Amino acid sequence: MERTESIILAIETSCDETAAAIVKNETELLSNVVASQIESHKRFGGVVPEIASRHHVEQITLVIEEALKKAKLTMDDIDAVAVTEGPGLVGALLVGVNAAKALAFAHGKPVIGVHHIAGHIYANRLIHEMKFPLLSLVVSGGHTELILMKEHGHFEVIGETRDDAAGEAYDKVARMLELPYPGGPHIDRLAHEGKPSYSLPRAMLDEDSYEFSFSGLKSAVINTIHNAKQKNEEIIKENIAASFQQSVIDVLVTKTKRAVEQFGVKQLLVAGGVAANKGLRIELEKAFQHSDVEVIIPPLSLCTDNAAMIAAAGAISYRKGKFGTMAMNGEPGLPIEIMN
Ligand code: KG4
Ligand code: ZN
Repeated sequence: MERTESIILAIETSCDETAAAIVKNETELLSNVVASQIESHKRFGGVVPEIASRHHVEQITLVIEEALKKAKLTMDDIDAVAVTEGPGLVGALLVGVNAAKALAFAHGKPVIGVHHIAGHIYANRLIHEMKFPLLSLVVSGGHTELILMKEHGHFEVIGETRDDAAGEAYDKVARMLELPYPGGPHIDRLAHEGKPSYSLPRAMLDEDSYEFSFSGLKSAVINTIHNAKQKNEEIIKENIAASFQQSVIDVLVTKTKRAVEQFGVKQLLVAGGVAANKGLRIELEKAFQHSDVEVIIPPLSLCTDNAAMIAAAGAISYRKGKFGTMAMNGEPGLPIEIMN
C-alpha cells in the first residue's frame, strides 16, 4: 500500500548549510530552517571541510529543534526522519546521518536516506506538481547533470559533466576576479552590468552527447585575465563575467533544449544552486516560451541547499516503504540510481 499521507522531518548537512525542515503530505512545507556557514568559509575562498563538520555539530540540534517548533510539532507527530546520505563532504554528511539515526532510534521512527540531487530536483515539487516524463537540469556547486524521470523516485542520468560542475566554474572564475565566495551570485550581478565582449569557448556544444565540460572555459577565462595583465591592459570585470555567463548559459540551454525534444518530456525542472542564476532563468524561459513544455524553477530559497527538498524526496521513499537502516553511513560518492 502506498502512503501519501506523511509528516517527514528532514536533515541536510552535505556541505556548508546545516538545515532541517518538515513537510506534510509530500508537498506542504511546515518549516524550513537553514543555518548558513558561508561567513566562516568566506575568508578561505571556499568550503573548508573540517570547519564545515564542526559547525554542523554545533548547529544540528538547534536547527532540528527550531524546525519542530516552527511547525508546532513534536517528534511524536513525525512519521519518518529523512537525511541526505550523499553525495557531499563525508565529515559533513556524517553529522546529519548520525543525528537522523539517533533521533529516529530514540523515538522509534524509520530513517530514510536521500540522495542530495534527488532532493534538489524535488525542491520543485514544493511549488508545482510533477508531470512525467520530465527532464531535470541539475546545476549546483558539485553537479551538472541532465536527469530523465519517468515516474516518482526514479532517476536516469542522461548526461553529466566530465570535469568541473557549473557552480564550481562560477566559484573559480569569481576567485580570479577577486569576488567573495560563493562567487555565482556576484558573477551573475556583474554579468548584467557588462557585455559579452571576450571570446570564450563553448565546450562540446555541437556534439550529440549530453556530456558537459566547464574546466576548459574556466582555464580560458584565467588565460584571458593573465594575458591582459601581462599586456598591462585593463580587465573589465563586468565584461569577463558577461562573457563567461553567456558561454555557460549557451551550453546549458542548447543541450537542455535538445534533450527535451529528444525525450519528448512534459516538464523541465531546473535544480541546484546555479538555478538561482538570473541569466539562466531568463534564457530557459525564453527557449521554451513557444513550446508546450512547462519550465519550473524553484524560488531562490529552494535552489540552494536546504532540508525541505530532502523531505520532499524522502516522502516518496516513505510512500514506497523504502527505509534505511541503523547501518546507514555518509556516502560521498552515492549514485542517484540508488533511489530507484
Ligand atoms: O546547490 P548548492 O547550494 O550546493 C551544492 O550542492 O553544490 O549550489 C551552490 C553553487 C555555488 O557554486 C554557487 O556559486 C552557485 O551555486 N550559485 C550561483 C548563483 N547562486 C548560487 N551560480 C550562478 N548564479 C547564481 N545566481
Ligand atoms: Zn546542493
